[in-house]
Amino acid sequence: MIKKGTLELINNTPLLVLDKIVADKVIYAKADYLQPGGSVKDRAAYQLVKDAYERGDLKKGQPVVEMTSGNMGAGMAVVCKQFGNPFYAVMSEGNSIERRKALKALGAEIILTKQVNGTMGMVTGDDIKHAGDVAREYAKEINAFYADQFNSPSCLTAHYNTTGPEIWEDLPEVEAFVSIVGSGGTFMGTSKFLREQNPAIKCIAVEPENTAILKTGKVKSAKHIIQGTGYGFVPPHWEDGLADEIITVSDDEVREMTVRLSEEQGLYVGYSSGANIAATIKFLEKNSSIKYIATILCDTGYKYSDL
Ligand SMILES: Cc1ncc(COP(=O)(O)O)c(C=O)c1O
Repeated sequence: MIKKGTLELINNTPLLVLDKIVADKVIYAKADYLQPGGSVKDRAAYQLVKDAYERGDLKKGQPVVEMTSGNMGAGMAVVCKQFGNPFYAVMSEGNSIERRKALKALGAEIILTKQVNGTMGMVTGDDIKHAGDVAREYAKEINAFYADQFNSPSCLTAHYNTTGPEIWEDLPEVEAFVSIVGSGGTFMGTSKFLREQNPAIKCIAVEPENTAILKTGKVKSAKHIIQGTGYGFVPPHWEDGLADEIITVSDDEVREMTVRLSEEQGLYVGYSSGANIAATIKFLEKNSSIKYIATILCDTGYKYSDL
């Protein structure tokens, strides 16, 4: 299969049958970690840049700035390179060293920001708010386009236009969809599309137990291991009513499942993938009649220091 360029490696990921994780059942998981930036966020990055060009907000050669946990940054670095825009990633120093290395290798300029109340490998909502403030200021200073993943509708459009239709085409029998929430683009865009095709499809959002703001309205502790998600604030585009259920997962459950995915299924993926599968299993335990359930393997294990 010939692909005509790097951008053709974004979207259209395989829907993988996981057959080793639950006895007598399979889970369908989109292998989004196979995209060139190594994560699901390539979809949002591509859509965001295309939309900005279409609106005339971004011109060839103009710098682009984004606040990132590393994954959106890697996606933006890949996409900006193809479109001819220099890319600047503003990232909390609490995100893994592996993420810095990947961003640098992909040609991004990295600006690291201090942690406010997180620790290495555990980046909090305050940490990313601070990174966002620095990014916004820097974008102004150098007359760059600020991508703003949390507020950009393109991050939802990406999944409404691609992830949703891809699942629907590969698995029209789908009865439930499970996704962890960072900016919420993956959960909301995909759920919206699937619901429009079949209103009976159950849409399940996933949160770290410590920052279950959507489920409980409270943050127990700002820290957890699932980088890129669970920042303890309600994402700006969040729509009540889209999630049939919100499932929380603890760090221990996530770590155990992430290790099982590599050891038992041969998939070296990151913590949010483990979180999605752990939550999928919790849902199946209470809904044993469900046969067709889809979720996302969000990023690669190579982005973590302790996997
Ligand atoms: C590893 C990982 N998983 C999941 C997500 C969540 O994706 P979304 O922002 O679409 O909610 C992110 C977001 O950055 C991420 O980095």
